[in-house]
Amino acid sequence: MKNMTVGIIGGTNGMGRWLADLLKAQGCHVHVTGRKTKMTSKDVVNICDVIVVAVPIAATAGVIGEVGPLMKQGQLLMDLTSLKKEPVALMLKHSEADVVGCHPLFGPSIKESAGHAIVLCRGRGDAWYACIKTLFEKTGYSVLEKTPDEHDRMMSIVQTLNHLNTVALGMAIAETGIPLGDVNQFFTPIFKTKMDIVEKVFTETPELYADIIAGNPDMENVLRSYERVVRNIRDLVTAGDGARLKKAMENTAKKLFG
Ligand SMILES: NC(=O)c1ccc[n+]([C@@H]2O[C@H](COP(=O)([O-])OP(=O)(O)OC[C@H]3O[C@@H](n4cnc5c(N)ncnc54)[C@H](OP(=O)(O)O)[C@@H]3O)[C@@H](O)[C@H]2O)c1
Repeated sequence: MKNMTVGIIGGTNGMGRWLADLLKAQGCHVHVTGRKTKMTSKDVVNICDVIVVAVPIAATAGVIGEVGPLMKQGQLLMDLTSLKKEPVALMLKHSEADVVGCHPLFGPSIKESAGHAIVLCRGRGDAWYACIKTLFEKTGYSVLEKTPDEHDRMMSIVQTLNHLNTVALGMAIAETGIPLGDVNQFFTPIFKTKMDIVEKVFTETPELYADIIAGNPDMENVLRSYERVVRNIRDLVTAGDGARLKKAMENTAKKLFG
């Protein structure tokens, strides 16, 4: 692992930078590229054993299509994308290198590895896969070994439905027309916690959340189910009392929490 040379496309910021720091601390040689770096993706493919694609979701397919064909057997092509089915299929299609799909289930600002998990998807080859798995386990992360389908199905709940709910909350509050400054005077602790999340999703990297919602293969089902649930809640409360909603919530609690 110490002599491993890794090129991270999109390594100047965000998750790419997180991985660059982790690898450097393990003694790897790391080269990073971004759109403004002197070093290009072509340069790193020529000098690295491992190429990691860590660019925004919308740019991922293009970058894989560009670097994949330049890679040879014996090298590893890996990605950090929050979705796995399409990027893993594209890496397999566009290169003859070994392939590992990787999705860290956290953002770049975490302080320590303990308590955080990383999903790994086997693409092609065993040796590099074992090496990457060992690297993450050695540095204190737990590794979840899943297929791209299993990953994206779970992410349709953990990310797509979750972030959709946050986006809907923010848009519904804005639609009331009441200035947030006025609402803020009435903050409860739970509302404050939720509004902190709304602010993060709408203002930090809205493109990441939009692409996570729009790009999940199960997005249509998730949206349909969300609409159905909101309509059901409306029907349950139109009579003006909360008894039917309470019953529905009790039934849901049994399903969710036993
Ligand atoms: N942020 C998260 O919480 C998180 C968590 C897990 C996985 N991910 C995944 O990690 C990947 C990167 O997300 P991020 O949040 O780290 O993004 P980010 O903070 O915006 O960083 C993107 C990096 O890619 C570079 N870049 C952008 N467009 C590029 C292009 N066309 N060609 C080459 N480099 C390009 C950027 O550098 P320049 O701007 O200088 O070009 C930067 O270094 C995404 O696939 C995302 O799904 C994100």
